[in-house]
Amino acid sequence: MQEKTISTFYMQPVIKTAIPGPKTLELLQKQEQNESSARTYPRNIPIAIERAKGSYIEDLDGNVFIDFLTGAGVLSLGHNHPEIVREVQRQMEYCCHALDIPTKVKNEFTELQLSMLPSAMRNEMKIHFCGPTGADAVEASIKICKTYTGRSEVVSFQGAYHGSTHAAMSVSGLLEQKNKIHNIVPGVHFFPFAYCYRCPMDLSFKSCSTNCVKYLENSLKDSHGGIRKPAAVIIELIQGEGGNIPAPVKFVQEVRRITQELDIPLIVDEIQTGCGRTGTWFTFEQYEITPDVILASKALSGIGMPISIVIYNKKLDVWSPGAHIGTFRGNQLAFAAGVAALKLIKRNNILENVKNQGCYLMERLNTLKQELAIIGDVRGKGLMIGLEIVEPYTNKAAGWIAKLIRKELLANGLILELGGRTDCVVRLLPPLNVDRDTVDTALKILECCLRKINHVYLENHSLLESG
Ligand SMILES: Cc1ncc(COP(=O)(O)O)c(C=O)c1O
Repeated sequence: MQEKTISTFYMQPVIKTAIPGPKTLELLQKQEQNESSARTYPRNIPIAIERAKGSYIEDLDGNVFIDFLTGAGVLSLGHNHPEIVREVQRQMEYCCHALDIPTKVKNEFTELQLSMLPSAMRNEMKIHFCGPTGADAVEASIKICKTYTGRSEVVSFQGAYHGSTHAAMSVSGLLEQKNKIHNIVPGVHFFPFAYCYRCPMDLSFKSCSTNCVKYLENSLKDSHGGIRKPAAVIIELIQGEGGNIPAPVKFVQEVRRITQELDIPLIVDEIQTGCGRTGTWFTFEQYEITPDVILASKALSGIGMPISIVIYNKKLDVWSPGAHIGTFRGNQLAFAAGVAALKLIKRNNILENVKNQGCYLMERLNTLKQELAIIGDVRGKGLMIGLEIVEPYTNKAAGWIAKLIRKELLANGLILELGGRTDCVVRLLPPLNVDRDTVDTALKILECCLRKINHVYLENHSLLESG
């Protein structure tokens, strides 16, 4: 069921000034003076937020945007869902922080999370609560697999993003972040991820999805392969920051078979794909595999109260007390929000909404792809959708065109981010309860901007061609 009431606060985007407007610009300049150069989002999305509600954000200058970035997938039920806000306010009166001492609300959250697992897994798994960011769950999962296996290496995939802390960065592909850091965590081996649109094995767009996994199998089983048996294989089922690339089912099932045969724990990083984003609570359900370790974070609370967890098979529970600690593991407000969010998702059939709106978006975007040469690929699951932007005629990844698109969209009231190599993928991460009117309005803006930029590209290209 769609959440009509939430977005009625704002009905559509309103653009009153150039972006950024004068008040926004002042705050951006103050931010530049006071904050670290590592800040990212306001460089590409130059807004300063006055307030936000549902699928909409209003900036300091009164401009209203549709938010299809949703805090990088965190705000799964949009901004400030009133029912969740109410539960958080209620919890504030009871207890806000409790380290890892049990509370009723934490217990309810834990049991609800376990109840969302496929029935065969429910009694086999335990939860570890981590520090508030997703990256801490990644750190914890690597530590537990190393402790359990007594091994030291980790296998990850090219294009992966698992976070910015030391070990999480080490198992991520992004070289720009890693290049300047010495002594990153050693023993990480990267294997090709089945990115069939640009086949890493150079098999010219054949969607076999198995050759890259065969390479992994051969390397791990080869007595002369040079790689010691790893403590874990860590994988995203849809590479998010890597360019919204869904792994083919066969590829993932093969990774599971190989890791099972070699007794290597498989960590499935669902920090972005989890909590309903792709239409099931966890995306691994759609791959019909049973992971040993599942990571969840971003959307656990539905409205951005930070929390991260590792769900792992009980056999891995070899930790001694204090093996992975952190002061902020007991955020009771996040637990209260998480309980309210899950109840709401179930009651309002929001996973159905994800499937319906996702199918509708994919259909409309695939139709647009037939028309516009700058759209190379449309891909995704549920409400995690990406458009790979290419240079017509050469099909080269075109981050520079995608950046123009992002700017044009913002100027017309739609907030989106980019991902992938050269930032060539325009990514859509709407709230899971987004209604059809908002989707249609966003599509209208998107279609209009893409047509305009496609036209400008082709016009200029033909001018250049004709000398
Ligand atoms: C798949 C995945 N894993 C881990 C992380 C890191 O999460 P956080 O930024 O909360 O540390 C992210 C963040 O984008 C992610 O997409």
